[in-house]
Amino acid sequence: MPFLEARGITKYFPGVLANDAVDFAADRGEVHAVVGENGAGKSTLMRILYGLERPDAGEIFLAGERVTIPDPATAIRLGIGMVHQHFKLCSSLTVAENVVLGAEPHQGPLLDQRRATAQVSELAAKHGLAVDPSAQVGTLSVGVQQRIEILKLLYRRSQVLILDEPTAVLTPQEITELLAVLHQLAASGHTVILITHKLREVLAVAQRVTVMRRGRVVGVRPVTQTSEAELAQLMIGREPRRLERSATVAGEVALEVSNLGARGEHGRWALSGVSFTLHRGEVLGVAGVEGNGQRELVEALTGLRRPATGHIRLAGKPITGWPVRRRREAGLAHVPEDRTSTGVSPTASIEENLVATNFHRPRFQRWGWLRRGEVRRHAQQLLERYEVRASDARAPTGTLSGGNVQRVVLARELDGDPQVLIAAQPTRGLDIAGTEFVRAQLRRLCEQGRAVLLVSADLTEILEVSDRIIVLYRGRIAGELVATSADEATLGQLMLGGEARRVA
Ligand SMILES: Nc1ncnc2c1ncn2[C@@H]1O[C@H](COP(=O)(O)OP(=O)(O)O)[C@@H](O)[C@H]1O
Ligand SMILES: [Mg+2]
Repeated sequence: MPFLEARGITKYFPGVLANDAVDFAADRGEVHAVVGENGAGKSTLMRILYGLERPDAGEIFLAGERVTIPDPATAIRLGIGMVHQHFKLCSSLTVAENVVLGAEPHQGPLLDQRRATAQVSELAAKHGLAVDPSAQVGTLSVGVQQRIEILKLLYRRSQVLILDEPTAVLTPQEITELLAVLHQLAASGHTVILITHKLREVLAVAQRVTVMRRGRVVGVRPVTQTSEAELAQLMIGREPRRLERSATVAGEVALEVSNLGARGEHGRWALSGVSFTLHRGEVLGVAGVEGNGQRELVEALTGLRRPATGHIRLAGKPITGWPVRRRREAGLAHVPEDRTSTGVSPTASIEENLVATNFHRPRFQRWGWLRRGEVRRHAQQLLERYEVRASDARAPTGTLSGGNVQRVVLARELDGDPQVLIAAQPTRGLDIAGTEFVRAQLRRLCEQGRAVLLVSADLTEILEVSDRIIVLYRGRIAGELVATSADEATLGQLMLGGEARRVA
């Protein structure tokens, strides 16, 4: 008998059937993954199981008993807990205080601090969750905050732990640690429901996987009897597209970087002696474990950080000290790593974001006045060309899914017909269709004779999209490879500081 079971769950939102007669079952002692593209209905199903939404139809069973879950308090009482995508911790309190908040051990009317700290320490140690119970939460990384959320659930004796895309906000190192914790929780008899669209994580940690598409369950598989390819196909309802690459000829030098050096946050050298050239008609991949100078490199190139040494030339022009706007006008475009805070203004409308960097163009202005009609027409064309799924171009950009936000950023950046595009982690967090779209755009750009610098922590992406690859390690170039003769093993070795070697 499954421990937690949902039968025939149906949920309508205005204009959308978010869950369509969904059957779902998870066992004790199992990590059960739920995968699906954005909008497939995963979060809706989980919010129903946690009492945040009421289903229009369907039943829920816990250990064989029919239950109704009108609110999260009931869910918690039944032993069902959920870690949200956005944490709800109190930053002025300590870790231990946050964990016990609402279920505190008392000594008289006061919180028994010592006991709380001891209990939280013990719980953390038992489940392999490294935290310092007396640390102030406001100072902690998202990875640690997530562990605290898990501890909160364990403190309340949750038997079922639901994690909605917990790895989206984590670094690769933190992901590895989290997956180990989840594995251990299942081994100790918990039911872990892991929502993700990273199939490797699924195959690494889950026993079974439920695949959703457009509100329906389209498959349930033991991980031993499926593959990334099969899951991807179930998720998108078709074969994943192979990235089409026609051979390009590397042309003139579009971007030349020599002896670039920059200091990082604490004044230490984050980047030193970096030299490379990027040619028209090529994608140059910059690989590396995050934190090895990639961010500083991108900032120095785009004008967000003043380099301490070296020179940058864009199509022959020395742009080293130029401000952002002037570089942009000279043909340098940038898809930033953090698309929702730097890439777009979430509160501004989609059409405003689409033309944000181009308002000064003559076609959008007349005698100093903004030509609204012209802006709107242009925005509409971009939305169509870049397949942005938005109900209304006047809606705030923050209402779009991650993949659609990235399409808006790309549309705007490529609209100015740039000579060089700097793309930083451009597919991070996107679903399969969104990722395919972005990668195809990068190739299209270089096939049109433009140059692309692709900074990515995703080795598959680097190998698939690039023509040449440089590897950054501790702020220096550890090696340079031709993509067709590179493989993950060689790249991985260079990324970890292995022998620098030149295959080019
Ligand atoms: N509160 C809501 N109001 C209206 N529509 C919603 C709401 N929550 C989700 N939806 C819609 O329901 C569908 C499923 O969304 P969701 O469950 O969040 O999918 P997933 O988590 O798989 O990305 C989407 O079309 C989404 O826009
Ligand atoms: Mg979701």
